[in-house]
Amino acid sequence: MPADTRGASARMGCFNAFTAVEADHLSATILDGLALARQIQSEVAQDVAGFTQSTGVVPCLTAVLVGDDPGSEVYVRNKREACRKLSIDGRVERLPATTSLDELLVLVERLNADPRVHGILVQLPLPPSVDAARVLEAVNPAKDVDCFHPENVGRLVQGRPRFLPCTPHGIRRLLARHSIETAGRRVVILGRSDIVGKPLANMLVARGPGGDATVTVCHTRTRNVEEITRQADILVAAMGRPRLVTAAMVKPGAVVIDVGMNRTEAGLCGDVDFEAVRDVAGMITPVPGGVGPLTVAMLMVNTLAAARLQQP
Ligand code: GUN
Repeated sequence: MPADTRGASARMGCFNAFTAVEADHLSATILDGLALARQIQSEVAQDVAGFTQSTGVVPCLTAVLVGDDPGSEVYVRNKREACRKLSIDGRVERLPATTSLDELLVLVERLNADPRVHGILVQLPLPPSVDAARVLEAVNPAKDVDCFHPENVGRLVQGRPRFLPCTPHGIRRLLARHSIETAGRRVVILGRSDIVGKPLANMLVARGPGGDATVTVCHTRTRNVEEITRQADILVAAMGRPRLVTAAMVKPGAVVIDVGMNRTEAGLCGDVDFEAVRDVAGMITPVPGGVGPLTVAMLMVNTLAAARLQQP
């Protein structure tokens, strides 16, 4: 039964024999981000090959990693591995946690000026002693594959993006892949980060395909969060709190997107209590294997786009 129909049945209390029999083992459709990411990466690999053949240029992404945050180490390793598979030149500039703002700005300027480097990614979080906004603002907007530069954020808000931010873009592609309509739907986003919550809200309210949604962003000061999340046709959990989204917060049949990547003593888990919520939701992303791989895939898309942009 399609997720929507199931949700509607549950909402309206339609307990005919069919739904009653099924009710015991209803479970949400799993949205497989890993499979989609692999498909996108194989398409990008072909595009990279064509680009390199026609221009003689190998797209290059340089990640800047400051300090030794274990989560960042994993992210950067995954990005580098993806570059290798796609024949993108993936480089890492490692700096100690004691690096000053000025030293970091010198490195960013060097990468900005290097014509062989097409994409620059400053891995976040930066050590607290460094003003991250100053560093992100120093990246050449044409090389800003994260879409964190104020010029690129402004363009996104105005509906004329240069790049789309990787995680929100991955989420949008996943929704499109599963024919999940956003126009006129209620989307609730938990978390107002610059990386996910704010840009995703902007993309979903934008006019056109993949947009036109009615979006609510909840955060730590939001009151009656459960009341709001239960209205969501599409619920996005991106607040970085392990398993905070419970079954009681989810409307039956809703699409639940889990952006969380929490390293707990019990291992990696999302922001959604997956085992409980899968019995209520119509569709749900797993962690791992949901949004995470899509973020990396979209970074590869942006790196190739940046390399194209920089061709004379
Ligand atoms: N840290 C966590 N997610 C991200 C991301 O998407 N980009 C960067 N640069 N840092 C991150």
